[in-house]
Amino acid sequence: MNLDDVMAEINQFLLCPTPGAWIDVALENQELLLIDHANCEKKAASTAMNLLYRYIDRDDLLKKMSQLAREELLHFEQVVGIMKDRGVSYRHVSSSRYASGLRELVRKGGEDELVDVLICGALIEARSCERFAALVPHLDDTLAKFYRSLLRSEGRHYQDYLELARQYAGTDIQWRIDEFREIERELILSPDPEFRFHSGVPAAA
Ligand SMILES: [Fe+2]
Ligand SMILES: [Fe+2]
Repeated sequence: MNLDDVMAEINQFLLCPTPGAWIDVALENQELLLIDHANCEKKAASTAMNLLYRYIDRDDLLKKMSQLAREELLHFEQVVGIMKDRGVSYRHVSSSRYASGLRELVRKGGEDELVDVLICGALIEARSCERFAALVPHLDDTLAKFYRSLLRSEGRHYQDYLELARQYAGTDIQWRIDEFREIERELILSPDPEFRFHSGVPAAA
């Protein structure tokens, strides 16, 4: 599947595009954007690592999540490198409500939990991909090139998560995916007091 097709699929999968108001604030807060982006890459690697520890009997999951964790850590190193070039010092920033808001829906225990975590992964990867693409036309050449380079891998991560979710569910889970898509839309379209890579519509200060 070429990149245009993947992006088209992702734009179909997500129930709304990133609001213009978020893009405006992101461009005004590029240091914070980079710091939170670095955190997101780190967290993406750690989510994949958790799955590697927990589901040791799933060959496809082990293969895909191990590859994904490595790629996310590579992205992390790249973001940190750009931060360094730009004199952005890495400081602790709180996580956005986004991932925890999705995780609240995850059913506990057994196959349901695995399937839900994988669906969350697909959504987070899809939204990341969509946001990188939305930012690219507005960024300086270096950052635009970097974010464009991330589209392919984050797009593949979205596909891998979704395929694994469907595979391990072994039954039609479109209804469940749709429930998560609805919540994801709410998190993106409702006012959010905090600006982060996955935050909602910036609330007036
Ligand atoms: Fe990444
Ligand atoms: Fe990713």
